[in-house]
Amino acid sequence: MDKYYITTPIYYPSANLHVGHTYCTVMADAMARFKRLCGYDVMFLTGTDEHGQKIQRIADEAGVTPQAYVDGIVAGVKQLWATMEISYDDFIRTTEPRHKVRVQEIFKILYEKGDIYKGKYEGWYCTPCESYWTDKQLVDGKCPDCGRPVEWAQEDSYFFRLSKYQDRVLELLSRTEPTPFLEPETRRNEMIAFVKQGLDDLSVSRGSFDWGIPVPLDDGQVIYVWLDALTNYVTALGFPSFNNESTALYERFWPADVHLVGKEIVRFHSIIWPAMLMSAELPLPRQIRGHGWLLLDGGKISKSKASAARGNVVDPVVLIDRYGVDALKYFLLREYTFGQDGLFTNEAMLGRINGDLANDLGNLLSRTCGMVEKYFGGAVGGGAGGAAAPEDADLAATATSVAAKVEEHMDRFAFNRALEEIWTLVQRSNKYIDETAPWALAKDEAQRGRLEEVLYALCEALRVLSILIHPYMHHSAEEIRRQLGLLAPDAAPDGAPEAAGVAWADAAVWGKEAAYQVTKGAALFPRIDVEAELAALEALA
Ligand code: ME8
Repeated sequence: MDKYYITTPIYYPSANLHVGHTYCTVMADAMARFKRLCGYDVMFLTGTDEHGQKIQRIADEAGVTPQAYVDGIVAGVKQLWATMEISYDDFIRTTEPRHKVRVQEIFKILYEKGDIYKGKYEGWYCTPCESYWTDKQLVDGKCPDCGRPVEWAQEDSYFFRLSKYQDRVLELLSRTEPTPFLEPETRRNEMIAFVKQGLDDLSVSRGSFDWGIPVPLDDGQVIYVWLDALTNYVTALGFPSFNNESTALYERFWPADVHLVGKEIVRFHSIIWPAMLMSAELPLPRQIRGHGWLLLDGGKISKSKASAARGNVVDPVVLIDRYGVDALKYFLLREYTFGQDGLFTNEAMLGRINGDLANDLGNLLSRTCGMVEKYFGGAVGGGAGGAAAPEDADLAATATSVAAKVEEHMDRFAFNRALEEIWTLVQRSNKYIDETAPWALAKDEAQRGRLEEVLYALCEALRVLSILIHPYMHHSAEEIRRQLGLLAPDAAPDGAPEAAGVAWADAAVWGKEAAYQVTKGAALFPRIDVEAELAALEALA
């Protein structure tokens, strides 16, 4: 069985997460679910990056210890992912002993290699980003990542010989075969230009605060937050071996297949992380994928902006509460193009929910089940015979060709294209209802066979859809299967494809079920009164 290891960034628990973090985690979740459905042995890791000066400062301001502060926020993060039904296999916290001891071991490996030395660091420091910048890198004298003011700082520090790996990193970034190390191409070109300017050695410890993992054998220093953070991808797998604990997960899953990250931290993942791994002589991740930002009023949604969202609710908990998990996931995956920034607006979200979900998919299910109940008491079979009309052939061809196209789009992380492709089947099916006009067939007893054939074909299309949408919206997938009689009414499959009887290969098979025993249920997605809802959201924000 092929393995697939995917990670999200480990988020800073400096404040509650917003819809931007949710976007990244939802993409990783959809990919993990998709790969599981395709039969991969999947490891999906997420977590929180809990050390550093910023967290220490916020905790001080709140009058609590940093640990107590992050414990509170992390409980909320875990609750959010539970509500979103994020199917992570492990959640790593950098304050956990399993991580801390291994970060120190990795620090020692790099030190013993001769790649870490003690020196003095000075530069423009951006506290919120925990980054030092050179004069050249500042934009209008401010932090190039977040645009906030920087301060000149100097301190004793250990350094990692990043400069030594410049050529190898450049070679890695320039690689395009078998797959580019970094995607999308715009980010790759940016990073190549950045490395060509020359890489300075990297400060990897701090003496100015103590909320961090101590540098081994030097009490006065803590390990700089990026060395601490990046190593989570291997420490979570039990690397390096410590206390004879098993490294079986590391052997099974490393190297990662993809580190999914926002574009602002591509630099850390595509330059610093590979150099650290080269120094430790470990295999490199196969790919870094940098996604774009969700924007509000032209600016990135950030933790500090999240509370002043100008009429747009960016708290995912509120959105799930109003529209459900599937609708929020669908919107995030369908609306935005991977790698590009996108505007987050209430109008776009409600438009997708009403148009694609309530109208297109929801109506297809309710019309089909309604007609099967009305005309056949809920039971239709496929064997009515008769020469299939061109629209039947076309529906079947559309249905059975979508899965392969979805696979191609997913290979490129083009979630929006994958869903768009799936919706061609939703639309083809709705058109099929218009073309065949079952209500007209129902008036003619001689057409009873044809009517059954038509309704059976629609059930088949819905069955195929229930497989195709499973990685993105498993509740809706399961509800479709329940109404089609493919899942016991009281079954609680909990998102696992096996439990819902879903196998990816079946999406390319037409005529898989011989017959259907349908029970019409509640609407998949209730229609929203957009005007009223926009006003309600405005009042909440
Ligand atoms: O950077 N739009 O943590 P972080 C889209 N701890 N995605 C967004 C977003 C937005 N407006 N805002 C945040 C850190 N994100 C480090 C990572 S990894 C070893 C250490 C997402 O809490 C996006 O994926 O600032 C971004 O890269 C990540 O959250 C940053 O989260």
